[in-house]
Amino acid sequence: MRGWSFVIVAAGKGRRFGGPPKQFEKLGEMPLWEWSARTALKLKADGVEQIVLVVPPGMESSMEAETARIRSRIDLVMVPGGERRQDSVLNGLKAARGKRVMIHDSARPFVSPMLCRRLVSEAVKRGSAVPLLPVTDALKHADQGVIVAGIPREGLLVTQTPQAFPSEEIHRVLKETPGHFSDEAEAWLASGRDLGWTRGDPLNFKITFPEDMELASRVLRGSSVERTGFGFDVHRLSPGIPLFLGGLRIPFPLGLSGHSDGDLLCHAIADAVLGAAGLPDIGTLFPASEGRFKGIRSLDILKEAVAMTREKGFTVSSVNAVVNAQVPRLASMAEGIRKNLTEVLFADRPGTVSLTFKSGEWTGDVGNGEAMRCWAVARLVTEGDPCPIETSDA
Ligand code: CTP
Ligand code: MG
Repeated sequence: MRGWSFVIVAAGKGRRFGGPPKQFEKLGEMPLWEWSARTALKLKADGVEQIVLVVPPGMESSMEAETARIRSRIDLVMVPGGERRQDSVLNGLKAARGKRVMIHDSARPFVSPMLCRRLVSEAVKRGSAVPLLPVTDALKHADQGVIVAGIPREGLLVTQTPQAFPSEEIHRVLKETPGHFSDEAEAWLASGRDLGWTRGDPLNFKITFPEDMELASRVLRGSSVERTGFGFDVHRLSPGIPLFLGGLRIPFPLGLSGHSDGDLLCHAIADAVLGAAGLPDIGTLFPASEGRFKGIRSLDILKEAVAMTREKGFTVSSVNAVVNAQVPRLASMAEGIRKNLTEVLFADRPGTVSLTFKSGEWTGDVGNGEAMRCWAVARLVTEGDPCPIETSDA
């Protein structure tokens, strides 16, 4: 492979954070580590061809399902970490197939693609690159809790990740340079090599203490856009056609007539999803007049609607639908319907589907078993990206 590997170290114990390892805590709807993996995905066009996820030893198999959403979109390998951060990095580097590597803390969820691009271009020019920021607060030195002196901050810089290097060379440096290193740049410098740099990003802070997670949640809440959409559908029940709801075949002598498979639950949800994203409705996008849509599976219409909203930067976070049907009784079908819908709506991000079934109280067309109705509300959010600020190199 000629491109970049993106190594995410997620094998620490998070002692300062407390509790289970912080990298598996949820930030928004995703575990902390997944934020960085998603940034790596956005860098495929910039040459990132592989993600190496370094996890606590023994967790590789339990992480299989959790990583599936990412693995379906890029080559992802998981390797066990080691006692110290540098041991974890070394294990990650053994699995890295890219010519160059970006090594990143799983505890920095808001690394932006823009920062990575600046880093990549600097590393290609200078051989290596790390993000740095000037220290802006006044510094003190404490000895066993007693403040003993002030420290001039001039010339002091804080270091972030990702840190970019040629893969084989950083591997050799970490293996052959004795010492305990806070990051790869320290080992690189200790081996006598030049270090390139680019300006870091204040949003790329590291989650170390619980209050950092609180800050990250606030950043996230302040930056994500939410939209709500509403959809409705009604279909006549007719004999001799199969009944589909949420893509599930329901055993019943009557079915919902329509130019598609009549699946009004999928239709109402698709319209809610499209409406939330400001897109045209399914009648416009999949017109009955066009032969190619005849008999189309409505679950595929829904899948298409979700893909279109994703193109606009939205992901579905929840759907709530009410199906108004006198016959048949649907409660026992709820699980199967929910499973189908979940697969289509939340292919790459977790979310919830709530379903409510209401009878027609033996009145009107629904109550007389002549028709079914459905209403659906969909909530969409912009994909987790707290709008990184582009800053020019100082
Ligand atoms: N890390 C790792 N393997 C280790 C130690 C750290 O993969 N043996 C990773 C952490 O998971 C984290 C990153 O290195 O993503 C930065 O380290 P840090 O913030 O220090 O995390 P922890 O070591 O887990 O936390 P603490 O130092 O508070 O125990
Ligand atoms: Mg640590």
